[in-house]
Amino acid sequence: MNASVTTATYLKDCASKIELALQSSFPTDWDVPQLLRDAMQYSLDAGGKRIRPALVLTTAHAIQGSSVICDDAMPIACAVEYIHTYSLIHDDLPAMDDDDFRRGKPTNHKVFGEAMAILAGDALLTHAFRLIPQAARQGNVKPEIALAIVDDLAKYAGASGMVGGQAADMLGEQGITSINELEYIHLHKTSDLIVFSVVAGGRIGGANEEQLDKLALYGRNIGLAFQIQDDILDLIGDEQKLGKKTNSDVAQQKVTYPFLIGMEESIALVKKLTQEAKNAIVEANLAQPERLLQIADYLVQRDH
Ligand code: IPE
Ligand code: IPE
Ligand code: MG
Ligand code: MG
Ligand code: MG
Repeated sequence: MNASVTTATYLKDCASKIELALQSSFPTDWDVPQLLRDAMQYSLDAGGKRIRPALVLTTAHAIQGSSVICDDAMPIACAVEYIHTYSLIHDDLPAMDDDDFRRGKPTNHKVFGEAMAILAGDALLTHAFRLIPQAARQGNVKPEIALAIVDDLAKYAGASGMVGGQAADMLGEQGITSINELEYIHLHKTSDLIVFSVVAGGRIGGANEEQLDKLALYGRNIGLAFQIQDDILDLIGDEQKLGKKTNSDVAQQKVTYPFLIGMEESIALVKKLTQEAKNAIVEANLAQPERLLQIADYLVQRDH
């Protein structure tokens, strides 16, 4: 097996474990309107690559260097997937990107209506914050580590993070937005949750401050590369593989890297950022850095 096959297999294996954990992550005995519960479940169950939770687990493992995936990190892995899934539901709404397909299925609002889609997103976001103390209650995660993770999640997912990036994305205009503004959009709407994922995994694994900084730099760079690749795939990807319609950015007149600097330069930038991400991991002196290095390479080659 070459490196990219083993990485794909590894990520599939992570995704299966995460999906199993997601199934029991929301209490069945809470009194919740059935339509809201169904709307939340619909998007959580729809699949997706589960890259962010896989990064939480892989980073904890890279620091600890044990031979088994770190189950202590699983509630945090689920939490970031809850936040990511909520962000996709809201991103697809008519008021935002107005998309009809996601993860190979009709978007949440197409099935449940706009009100229920907004509320399902709100509920997923809120529940993510409940999952973090659970990591402290059920596992070996120290309360002060769980507190630091709550703090990080509020910062990276909120107005100074993903939501701020989404707001800047909505305010961006073709022909007016500069490269610096576009970088701000991509760093916040996409890198920030990826930074959160690797830093949270690092905290659980017991990383020191210097290692956390290097992990954040890795997250920043693979996150930016990930969003540029998403922009590229919006133009040249296969709808079947992507599970979403292509040319959405064109229809919405979004400012993207291919729009601003062209396709060739965008592809070159994805490669450069990937190398910089890998350099940060090498400098971090982790017990087992290989998977994080392989994931960086795997993400450059992704077609979905
Ligand atoms: C899509 O994220 C939105 C972006 C930030 C680019 P993913 O490409 O990770 O979507 P799923 O989770 O696999 O569906
Ligand atoms: C979405 O970026 C970023 C977030 C959801 C936070 P895009 O709008 O480019 O994602 P897709 O292309 O719809 O998946
Ligand atoms: Mg968007
Ligand atoms: Mg979108
Ligand atoms: Mg996109």
